[in-house]
This record gives sequence, C-alpha cells and structure tokens, in this order.
Amino acid sequence: MAETRALLTILADGRFHSGEALGERLGVTRAAVWKQVRSLRASGLDIHAVRGRGYRLGGPVELFDAALVLEAMTSAGRRLLTGLEVLSSVDSTNAYLIREAARGAAAGRVCLAETQQAGRGRRGRHWASPPGGNIYLSVLTRCESGVTALSGLSLAVGVGIARALSRAGVPDIGLKWPNDVLWQGRKLAGVLMEVSGESAGPCDVITGIGLNVRMTREAASEIEQPWVDLHTVMDGVVPSRNRLAGLLLDTLLPVLDSFVDTGLAPYVDEWNRLDMYAGRQVLVTTPGGVIGGECRGVAPNGALLVMTDGKYRQFAAGEISLRPI
Ligand code: BTN
Repeated sequence: MAETRALLTILADGRFHSGEALGERLGVTRAAVWKQVRSLRASGLDIHAVRGRGYRLGGPVELFDAALVLEAMTSAGRRLLTGLEVLSSVDSTNAYLIREAARGAAAGRVCLAETQQAGRGRRGRHWASPPGGNIYLSVLTRCESGVTALSGLSLAVGVGIARALSRAGVPDIGLKWPNDVLWQGRKLAGVLMEVSGESAGPCDVITGIGLNVRMTREAASEIEQPWVDLHTVMDGVVPSRNRLAGLLLDTLLPVLDSFVDTGLAPYVDEWNRLDMYAGRQVLVTTPGGVIGGECRGVAPNGALLVMTDGKYRQFAAGEISLRPI
C-alpha cells in the first residue's frame, strides 16, 4: 500500500475525484490510477467508481498523522516517546519493532500502521487488519532485570487500554483475563506482548495493540470470535483515530515505563472492577484438560482465580483459554 498512500490521501475526503484529476495530481496516467484503485480495493477499502464522476471512498477516512497523535498526548506521555513512525503497510507492527529493536532502536519507540499484511494475534491466531479504519500500534520498551519482573504486565496493559478508552468517552468497557478488551461480551481490542532477551537479564518488550475502530465487512468475515468495533459501540460517532492512538500511548507509556518498580499491585483492584467474567461459570482449557468453575478475578500475582469444588485454583497466563458456559 506504500505506493498508493498519495492516492488514499486524496480520496480520504470521501468526495468524488475524476481519474483525470487524480492522474494529474499524482503525476501518473489514468491507467496507473486505475491500477492503484484496484490495489486499494484488494486491501479491503471500499472504493466506488461512477462513470463521469470518478472515484470516491465509501466514506471519509482519517489517515494517521504523527503530529495529530502527539497533539492528543500530555507532556508526561510525550517525554517517554523516543520515536513515532506511521507506516502505510507492514507485515506486523510487532514484527517490525522486533526487527528495529535488534538494530538497536531505543526504548519508547512506537509504530502505527494503516494496515498489516500478517497481523499477529495471541496463540498463533491471525489479527484482521484492513486499512484505514482500525488501530494497529506497537511500543518497544526494555527491561533490565529479566522476564520475571514483567509478570502481570499484560494485565496492567489491559487496565491502561481501558483507562485510555474511558478518556476517549467509550462507555461500558470490560476485561477478559488476561487482557482482552470487551464490550457487551464482544472483543473490541486485543494485546499481544512479545519479549525477547535473557530470562534473568536485559530484554526487549514489544507491546502490540489492535483496536477495532471501524472494521470492514470483508475483513470481519475471517474473525473467529464475537467482535465489535467503536463505530458500533458509539452509534456511528467514532472518536478521531489519531486522538485515540495518542490517548492509548499517553496512558500506556507510563504504565510500561514504571511497571518494573510498581509491579501489578496498583492495577489489581481496577482489573477486578473491570472483570467481565467475575462470578460467572467458565471453562478453562489447559494443556491437561478442561476445568469448569466460577471466575473470581485475579490474584495479586496476576493469576486467574477459579473456584472449583469449593477450592480456589490459580491459572498463570500462557496456554490456557477461557470461555463462558
Ligand atoms: C489478540 O489475539 O487478542 C492480540 C491481538 C494483537 C493485535 C495487535 S495489532 C498491532 C500488533 N501487531 C500485531 O501483529 N499484533 C498486534
């Protein structure tokens, strides 16, 4: 999509533009314009072509703009940011930052993408990443004291996302252990944390967040779980994507920066208040089999607490999955 960014920027206003006018502005032939339109359509964008009027997007699109993202941040958040890149298209923002980290990128580096060709979800799943409507964002931080110091961080990140969404005026947000962000039981955002380095020494921490703002019908057809986007949650009045990205960063950078010192303690009560499964009967799928019980929130170490046969059992994050009965 990199070569079609200029075309998308013109079409972003949602108005008609003739093939001839587009060709002139882009300095290419009309046939080349048509080729670019086809490529944007193939990536999931809804582009109408009407004889005599030209091309227009199904609706206006707000493209990412680093200056507008920064505008939504406080000076405290901005101080923790060492670089903000907006990519038109990338395999995965997490994979990109992992590569950048290996080349020595500094902690506090962030990338946002309009679309991902190979968006990664948890447990090896694919993350639907159509262009122009959602948020795909990754943050690189470093931890000098090894992986154990990060235990529970993914729950704190879930709390951070819920705080950011509340700052953006999004109502009724809840969490599903460890950090799925839900609205009325449907998934609105997901977090994929990837850590590389030494278990007892310095490591790179990549926190990737996918937030459904306006999902396309085509891309939605491949999502295998109940999902929702902000367009539905907010009855069509969607907050600006740039502001949302800014609020996410402004809330998450301090959480990521201070976690080694604070640990999970400042987040546990808030996590439990946001817990959508509290008191509900669930099935926990572990490598050893399926266990039924009642969800009782998280323990101070971030483990999931489930009451089965009158006893509490703790489950650590990892290869377990949780579903309501
Ligand atoms: C989940 O399965 O719930 C986690 C989804 C995480 C998706 C985000 S989108 C930005 C970042 N880049 C990726 O490839 N994945 C994460």
